[in-house]
Amino acid sequence: MGVEFQYVHKAFDIVNGKPKYILKDVNLKIETGEFICVLGKSGCGKSTLLNLLAGYLKPDKGRISVDDTDVDGPSEERGVVFQQHALFPWYTVRQNIEFGPRLKKKENVKEIADKYIQMIGLEEYENAYPSELSGGMAQRVGIARALANDPKVLLMDEPLGALDALTRDTMRKELIRIWQLSKKTVFFITHSVPEAVYLADRVVILKDGQVTLDERIELPRPRNIRSPKFEEYVDLFSHSIADAPADEMVIAE
Ligand SMILES: Nc1ncnc2c1ncn2[C@@H]1O[C@H](COP(=O)(O)OP(=O)(O)OP(=O)(O)O)[C@@H](O)[C@H]1O
Ligand SMILES: [Mg+2]
Repeated sequence: MGVEFQYVHKAFDIVNGKPKYILKDVNLKIETGEFICVLGKSGCGKSTLLNLLAGYLKPDKGRISVDDTDVDGPSEERGVVFQQHALFPWYTVRQNIEFGPRLKKKENVKEIADKYIQMIGLEEYENAYPSELSGGMAQRVGIARALANDPKVLLMDEPLGALDALTRDTMRKELIRIWQLSKKTVFFITHSVPEAVYLADRVVILKDGQVTLDERIELPRPRNIRSPKFEEYVDLFSHSIADAPADEMVIAE
């Protein structure tokens, strides 16, 4: 059960008659309820991995499954939150969150929206339009909207990347709080090593098209970013990412 990548290969180009694999034999198992962060250099294939799990792309080889069911196209059971929120500008906060449940003709649409508006702490903004929200608020609505569909997995591709440092810091804490309340499996991509150490149960490093490190973070929450152990994880991951430059990567079989 949970999310499973088995022998996953993905190429976009053919070079000298051979597929140039961006992902080559990725194997990864994520337990239900786990918060996993994926780190790796720009261009190493993080978003590709997420897009495969989201069902936007299909693997060339291998298998991706959620609770033992193969991923075959996008589905509400895998809710995606992007860096730039994709809220409907003509809908209010509440209407954005209600959108999914309404589409599914849920009977308790209002209660579902109430629950998530409260979870993200935007009760006072439920009738505001996206243009009236700060970046952090809009991102929280994006998360609430994904959660309102009751997905099995929440997929986030650098969701805090567009926020200023202070808001980003607040949002990390907020995210942990929401995750602890919602108990969802989270697949989270970030460029920031400290962010991964702060958030994740497990950190996975992608390099040369494969998982080169898979490490559990054994720190109690809320995490103290100034503790020596925290620094140790940051050092470990930073070195691990930097070893081989992804830019020079050409993978052919
Ligand atoms: N649709 C596509 N068509 C062709 N090449 C692609 C496509 N999507 C991604 N690539 C290539 O695959 C490689 C991995 O891209 P991907 O976006 O997964 O990297 P990333 O790790 O998310 O990078 P970043 O950290 O910069 O977001 C890159 O070399 C990219 O150019
Ligand atoms: Mg990316």
